[in-house]
Amino acid sequence: MALAADLRILWKVLLPGTRGTDHAGRLEAFYGAQANDYDAYRRRLLHGREEMMAALPIQQGDRLLDLGGGTGSNLEALGERRQLLRSATVVDLSPSLLGIARERIARNEWDNVAAVQADATTYEPPDGPVDLVTFSYSLTMIPDWFLALDRALANLKPGGAIGVVDFYVARKWPAEGMRRHSRFQRTWWPAMFGWDNVFLSPDHLPYLRERFEKLKLEERTGRMPYMLGLKAPYYMFVGKKRPV
Ligand SMILES: C[S@@+](CC[C@H](N)C(=O)[O-])C[C@H]1O[C@@H](n2cnc3c(N)ncnc32)[C@H](O)[C@@H]1O
Repeated sequence: MALAADLRILWKVLLPGTRGTDHAGRLEAFYGAQANDYDAYRRRLLHGREEMMAALPIQQGDRLLDLGGGTGSNLEALGERRQLLRSATVVDLSPSLLGIARERIARNEWDNVAAVQADATTYEPPDGPVDLVTFSYSLTMIPDWFLALDRALANLKPGGAIGVVDFYVARKWPAEGMRRHSRFQRTWWPAMFGWDNVFLSPDHLPYLRERFEKLKLEERTGRMPYMLGLKAPYYMFVGKKRPV
């Protein structure tokens, strides 16, 4: 059963050529057929999500946006701390993944969680700036990731927090104290992920470190399912919007 689900995902992931005439269409063409199997496979692929959510400085009554939040699994990872939130909104462009998020919300009777179909580069919360924003493995799938981060910064209250976890590659000449990656890592991983329109960047971390005050930063590698023990680099960043 689990193997059959993995094979359905791998078929989609390995198949060349995602259809769709725009970004939202390409996402849905990629995720539409995988939505039901998404969580089981990504649990083994997308490392560090629970830890990033656990590191968020959540306070009673906070409002959170999970940008590119897909099936809403990050809200499950929060466990009891989810109840501290006044509201949490899963923002995503894929109707299929949002369908799974809405099922999760209904099944668990979360009355403080909503799922909204919108673009993270332009979304503005109707009730004004929020306390927390998160991106887990979504920035690499947002071509204009810098606009998504600028929008997130504008959507945060001063002192609000951001949590990001994603695949990346180091710059060829990283800043002092930052990880170095081999030439193999810097060429193989972007080429491999680029096949599925996942764009690994050496610039997420420099941009995040420049725009936000760092609270936590980890650079790690995580095992890839069915890839003979190969480990892909990922980072986890938690930061704070500086007071104006
Ligand atoms: C790899 S998935 C990660 C989903 C979820 N955050 C998780 O950790 O399982 C990337 C997500 O980003 C969403 N996405 C990509 N571009 C987006 C955009 N411009 N606005 C909103 N969501 C976007 C995709 O639809 C997809 O759900």
